[in-house]
Amino acid sequence: MKKIIITIDGWSSCGKSTVAKQLARALGYVYIDSGAMYRAITLYFLRNHIDWTDEKETLEALQNIDLQFIANPLTQQSEMHLNQENVEYLIRDLVVAEKVSDVATIASVRTFAVAQQQKMGEQKGIVMDGRDIGTTVFPNAELKIFMTADIQTRVERRYKEMHDKNPNITMDEVKKNLETRDYIDSHREVSPLRQAEDAILLDNSLLTMEEQLDIALKWVAKKLASH
Ligand code: CDP
Repeated sequence: MKKIIITIDGWSSCGKSTVAKQLARALGYVYIDSGAMYRAITLYFLRNHIDWTDEKETLEALQNIDLQFIANPLTQQSEMHLNQENVEYLIRDLVVAEKVSDVATIASVRTFAVAQQQKMGEQKGIVMDGRDIGTTVFPNAELKIFMTADIQTRVERRYKEMHDKNPNITMDEVKKNLETRDYIDSHREVSPLRQAEDAILLDNSLLTMEEQLDIALKWVAKKLASH
């Protein structure tokens, strides 16, 4: 069967990666978490004290960054490796979350990540989630989904995820981080977060996991039938 590219963009913590993983599993497609790439770059910059507002320093640093998604045989999930180190756990920390949107405004960082993302989509059969996937990375993708959910639902979901790892985290810290990132992501100059004109809106505030997958799979079937 013909393979397509599916893009999922939207606000932070609205469940993009859950839908993307569900779709990839159901269709036998590859799932790529583009946010993990920006998070890994941020981790590298923080560890190496890179001043990302300095263009030359940033370009030099990017040359030393190797990003790979490698499947974990135990979980069957693909995990982010930064220079051969598995950083999947570390990149979800609040320390990274607090800086990632600033790093993601830098044009050279985006050029670096987008080139790799476009390469991953050459064979199609891919579901990629992020902020600019339907607008910049794959503007010709066959199916584009733009996701949202109300802020309280998003905060509760992310708080639960982060609290399991860090019991000291507060709901307020999580809320502030989501709101700040959403603001920066939607107001930056290069590839701001916005719904592509041909993207379909999915608000999953009141949907169960099964219901959201059902809806998305119907959209996929419709696209496949029309191609
Ligand atoms: O999981 P969540 O939606 O909270 O965030 P993420 O997908 O892990 O992305 C982390 C951050 O990376 C976002 O807040 C953006 O600043 C940036 N990002 C981006 O600029 N472009 C993308 N395609 C993906 C992420």
